[in-house]
Amino acid sequence: MKKKILSALLSVAMVASLLVGCGAAKEEAAAPAAPAATEEAAPAEEAAAPAEEAAPAAESNGKSVGVAMPTQSSERWINDGANMKKELEALGYTVDLQYAEDDVQAQVSQIENMIASGVSCLVIAAIDSSALVNVEAQAAQAGIPIIAYDRLLMDTDAVSYYATFDNKGVGTAIGESIKAGADLDNHKGEGLTVEFLMGSPDDNNALFLYNGLMEVLQPYLDDGTLVCKSGRTSFEDTCILRWSQETAQQNMENYLTGFYADQKLDIVASAFDGFAYGAKAALEGAGYTAEDWPLITGQDCELMAVKNIAAGSQYSSIYKDTRLLAAKCVTMVQAVLEGAEPEINDTTQYNNGKIVVPSYLCTPQNVTKENYEEVIIGGGYYTADQING
Ligand code: BGC
Repeated sequence: MKKKILSALLSVAMVASLLVGCGAAKEEAAAPAAPAATEEAAPAEEAAAPAEEAAPAAESNGKSVGVAMPTQSSERWINDGANMKKELEALGYTVDLQYAEDDVQAQVSQIENMIASGVSCLVIAAIDSSALVNVEAQAAQAGIPIIAYDRLLMDTDAVSYYATFDNKGVGTAIGESIKAGADLDNHKGEGLTVEFLMGSPDDNNALFLYNGLMEVLQPYLDDGTLVCKSGRTSFEDTCILRWSQETAQQNMENYLTGFYADQKLDIVASAFDGFAYGAKAALEGAGYTAEDWPLITGQDCELMAVKNIAAGSQYSSIYKDTRLLAAKCVTMVQAVLEGAEPEINDTTQYNNGKIVVPSYLCTPQNVTKENYEEVIIGGGYYTADQING
């Protein structure tokens, strides 16, 4: 008995010291990062962007838009950038599209350069939502309006509108996907095991997602239907700085060695497709096979994730049509530059600490093996060849 307790304590201590939590990862992120990309996104075909026709070139309207995107390391942002550029150019805007490769200072410099070059409007998908306050104030001083793209810009009154997906809805959709996929209501009190991989603490979306997820799952944790053997269920304990796939894999490896030597892990509640890939690698490394493969969730319906869903190694992902988001964002650019009325459907949820930002929330949709053909292929997001190729 003593031996058992000792080994349990040892494994808890081991995991605690090995887990790369948000705090530890912060230091790592402060270290010199890879050089920031100043190039535009890779051509859409290479980046597996949603299947779509090219827009006809339009005559210049003399206005330019600076589009600041976080990273090309995840496919969704490549698609977002490509869609925004295409939509804006079709309306005659010149577009300066920049990616900062998750380097906060690089993003600040890119936005400063956009302001200096005299852009008419800024569209920003922030890396660290609170780190842009000064550069946003500079834009406001120069009379340049700002639209927040996908991620809320915090602690500033310089932002006019916010185009995003219903971020809490993403969390509830992931929760509902787990509830249905693991058939939780028919396993009451059975102690299915679950571990959590949550989003970046400097991204406002991540906490919204967590809250939505827990709204669905907390009752099942409370009544013992779900058991989290690492005990790491809070946002603080499960968030992963900069949505790092590597950290997700490392955390999952540590969970598996620390807590799942005697009992299998049944569910990986993952907030992002990149985390799902990290979890998959860790599970394969730990010897899991199709026989005992856990249910793994994700977010974004990246091409790789949809391939994995079709093949059965990822249970679900959340479809966020980046074409729709870009279209909504463009109406906001037109509103601030041409006095048009953008469609707004939320004026309460997105308080950034200074103002409640008028927002348009697109609706996320859960995708599994059952509906990916209808939703993803039918919706023209990827072709069957892209998925099966
Ligand atoms: C986005 C997600 C994305 C994540 C990681 C979030 O802000 O809303 O769609 O998965 O960032 O890139």
